[in-house]
Amino acid sequence: MKILALSGSLRAASVNTALLEAARRLAPARIEVALYRDLATLPAFNPDDDRDPPPSAAAALRAEIGAADGLLVACPEYAHALPGAFKNGLDWLVGSTEFPGKPVMLINAAPRAFHAQASLREILATMSAQLVAESFVTVKAPKEASVADLLADATIAGPLRAGLELFVSVLRAQQPRG
Ligand SMILES: Cc1cc2nc3c(=O)[nH]c(=O)nc-3n(C[C@H](O)[C@H](O)[C@H](O)COP(=O)(O)O)c2cc1C
Repeated sequence: MKILALSGSLRAASVNTALLEAARRLAPARIEVALYRDLATLPAFNPDDDRDPPPSAAAALRAEIGAADGLLVACPEYAHALPGAFKNGLDWLVGSTEFPGKPVMLINAAPRAFHAQASLREILATMSAQLVAESFVTVKAPKEASVADLLADATIAGPLRAGLELFVSVLRAQQPRG
């Protein structure tokens, strides 16, 4: 089973990206968590360019979404909203066939960042994602925390592991029986 992890931050030392990397290491057995790293390569969304085929970076993102059983999203708050680059990435998925119905788990790195989280939930629901709300996790992660710091902090690693287990159990329950 494959989970695609999407970080809303382009920052090299991003704590959101570090949380996704920690989640990759904490994921249950036989679950592959792959980090999407090409957010910055997407062109500014223009409906005129949203045709078949779309720009190659958008096509690649859609293909990765299509190949994933579920999505893991960690996104910072900028001025009480989503970072523009991440919203741009989501806009490239609005008209896609790959995104609707995709199960999503959200990781919030800061309790105070509730405006962006609420907005993210609204946007993803509007895009017909399957929000697996019972798996959502909010932690208090120091901005400069490394992956090792996050994994060593039981108040972070514990909820992260529990959320992932819940999310994976939902994904497994939805898998067609072979
Ligand atoms: C332009 C900008 C605006 C921000 N606005 C908010 C905000 O409204 N609320 C908040 O809680 N944090 C805000 N922050 C702090 C970031 O959310 C925080 O530094 C977070 O760790 C960044 O995520 P990253 O480490 O994954 O890059 C802002 C940071 C920047 C750079």
